[in-house]
Amino acid sequence: MPLMKVLGIESSCDETGVALYDTQRGLLGHAVHTQVAMHEAYGGVVPELASRDHIRRLIPLLERVLAESQCARRDIDAIAYTAGPGLAGALLVGASFAESLALALGVPALPVHHLEGHLLSPLLAEDAPRFPFVALLVSGGHTQLMRVARVGDYELLGESLDDAAGEAFDKTAKLLGLGYPGGPALAQLAESGRPGRFKLPRPMINSGDLSFSFSGLKTAVLPAARARELSASDKADLAAEFQEAVTEVLAAKSVAACRQRRLSSLVVAGGVGANRRRRQRLDEAMAKIGGRVFYPALDLCTDNGAMIAFCGAQRLMQGEGPDRGGAFAVRPRWPLAELS
Ligand code: KG4
Ligand code: ZN
Repeated sequence: MPLMKVLGIESSCDETGVALYDTQRGLLGHAVHTQVAMHEAYGGVVPELASRDHIRRLIPLLERVLAESQCARRDIDAIAYTAGPGLAGALLVGASFAESLALALGVPALPVHHLEGHLLSPLLAEDAPRFPFVALLVSGGHTQLMRVARVGDYELLGESLDDAAGEAFDKTAKLLGLGYPGGPALAQLAESGRPGRFKLPRPMINSGDLSFSFSGLKTAVLPAARARELSASDKADLAAEFQEAVTEVLAAKSVAACRQRRLSSLVVAGGVGANRRRRQRLDEAMAKIGGRVFYPALDLCTDNGAMIAFCGAQRLMQGEGPDRGGAFAVRPRWPLAELS
């Protein structure tokens, strides 16, 4: 196995992530800057502001990661960066930074698929799953079940027909007046609430396939939210029921996917993977069929450079070369199934 240190650059949305991964020693250092405070005033991500902020953050983050890793720039053997999917301007910042640094250092630059990064992130943990496994990818933009045979071999088993799970958390949080980013705030509020007092549907739980649909859930929350002035405990109960509904559907479909494919390892990745209640539910559901759930470390659930560095390293170790020497392109829309 070739020994190398791969720098990872993530800038697809509202987090700037930089990390250094060593194929022998593992993760040497990683640092993330989140733009949440900057976008908060606007109630969502402003793409132009995101791009400008990535530019400001990349070099300081790189210096921090190198210091933490006790490495110098010349120790970098390759650079992996998120080339898509994501915001075009934000992706271009990371891509041009990575490609220029690679050119200056005379090392290869490798474009990486953001979702592949999420998908492989549980492999960074000490107790990593073995191939093949089923992966549940739950982020702000995607809800997908995939069969992962090995690095680069991904079969889409089912996905959301409308809103992603994270999007549903964010939109429902907005309805309850929780601001941006809503997912973590809603999850926190749900901790003090009681599910079952308000009744929400479990969309497509009995559809017999592995598709999801979450847009109806926020519509179902709407009448309850508008019927009267909600007290703090009403809001907590609604949040708890909402979280329960999403969690139940995700657990049921994940178990169905594992059964269907006769696999006992389930990997969960993406921002919504940070949800505690969901972890508990999934663990219970998988234990019932004699299976197990693997998660990335909590700080690697949301966007970060470590998963990009790791993904790039895996691909380089498989003998994959850099893209088109010097020229680069980003892909704001890029289906994971197109990877090989
Ligand atoms: O993977 P990620 O950081 O970005 C994308 O690639 O989309 O995921 C962000 C999403 C957001 O929708 C956020 O609200 C949601 O993950 N999220 C959560 C939690 N933490 C983040 N949703 C539910 N519970 C959480 N604890
Ligand atoms: Zn992400």
